[in-house]
Amino acid sequence: MSSEYITIEDGKLKGIKLNSLWLRERLSGDKYIDKNNLQRLYEPSLLDEDLHIKKYNYDENFLNVEFTDGSSGNFSINDLYDEINLIDVIPEKKIWDESHKLNIYDNDEIFSDNKKLIEMLNTFYEYGYVVIKNTKAEENEVINFAEKLGPVRSTNFGKLFNVVSKPNPNDLAYTAIELKSHSDNPYRKPVPGIQLLHCIANESTGGDSSLVDGYSISVYLKNNYCDYYKILTETEVNFRFTDVDVILQDRAKLIELDSNGNFKQIRFSGRLDYVPLLKDNQLKIFYKARKFLYQLCNSDDFKIKFRLSKGMISMFDNLRLLHGRTKFDPNTGFRHLQGCYIDHDVTEGKLRRLVKS
Ligand code: OGA
Ligand code: ZN
Repeated sequence: MSSEYITIEDGKLKGIKLNSLWLRERLSGDKYIDKNNLQRLYEPSLLDEDLHIKKYNYDENFLNVEFTDGSSGNFSINDLYDEINLIDVIPEKKIWDESHKLNIYDNDEIFSDNKKLIEMLNTFYEYGYVVIKNTKAEENEVINFAEKLGPVRSTNFGKLFNVVSKPNPNDLAYTAIELKSHSDNPYRKPVPGIQLLHCIANESTGGDSSLVDGYSISVYLKNNYCDYYKILTETEVNFRFTDVDVILQDRAKLIELDSNGNFKQIRFSGRLDYVPLLKDNQLKIFYKARKFLYQLCNSDDFKIKFRLSKGMISMFDNLRLLHGRTKFDPNTGFRHLQGCYIDHDVTEGKLRRLVKS
């Protein structure tokens, strides 16, 4: 007798009900999938809704199924397990604790040994950043580095941007003033996922770097200050960038959650946000909450401080971390960073490919 679903009695998939259509659209034979690209050769939406399973058998590694439409094939139990449990190779975020030390990798090592590159990318996803040493302290090196991982995201600042103190800058980053903890470009749709800052020269007094974990802050707020957490995760503010060529803007929450209520993204930049005219009592709470968030973002509790020296790259998740720098004195020496953005597709895609190859 054919059935609409089967239940595996033992092994990794024990007790799981497998639906016939769900299995059928995962058939992997040459008739169903183009093996060059693993894409389906037919339209799964048009499969017969009454399709059933005619026969099946399995061992600990494979499940073999014959369907009522005459199709059949093998399924890897491990692959089904991973898919059912939404298992991905991208590691879960880790909270920064007091023992957190700067994660540094060597440029030559990561690009000569895939195991090191995997370790570097894993660390990046666990802690939201890595610092790379021993890159050439030359212009365009940040692009060479980024493109070893994947394509660079151009913006109105260009493919790369020069962080130097200059007259009439269109962004405060291009001055010598202190930059409090902030995320970059919160006004963009979408916000650039990953930022790379490469140091060509850092000879001035001052100009030290910091990274702050917005994820750890969000968890701390959730556990200890639920009123603040609530208003920060529910209120949309306007972020805006203005120069002579463009006005970029988007409305978003300072702390954005995903559909499961988990941390998704922090946007924080005191130079660029415009709070909506909420009701008086709401505004009062919001301003208190934002001040507290600012204090957390600029306290040492969630921060790591370091000096980005010549030849170093700081690569950080701009949706999770905030970054800042102390003020510097351009009269004491030259400071020149070059930066660029890449998307999470790049690093996630690279990591999955490396792990699965
Ligand atoms: C930036 C920035 C930090 C620095 O360019 O977005 O934050 O160290 N720069 O100059
Ligand atoms: Zn910045």
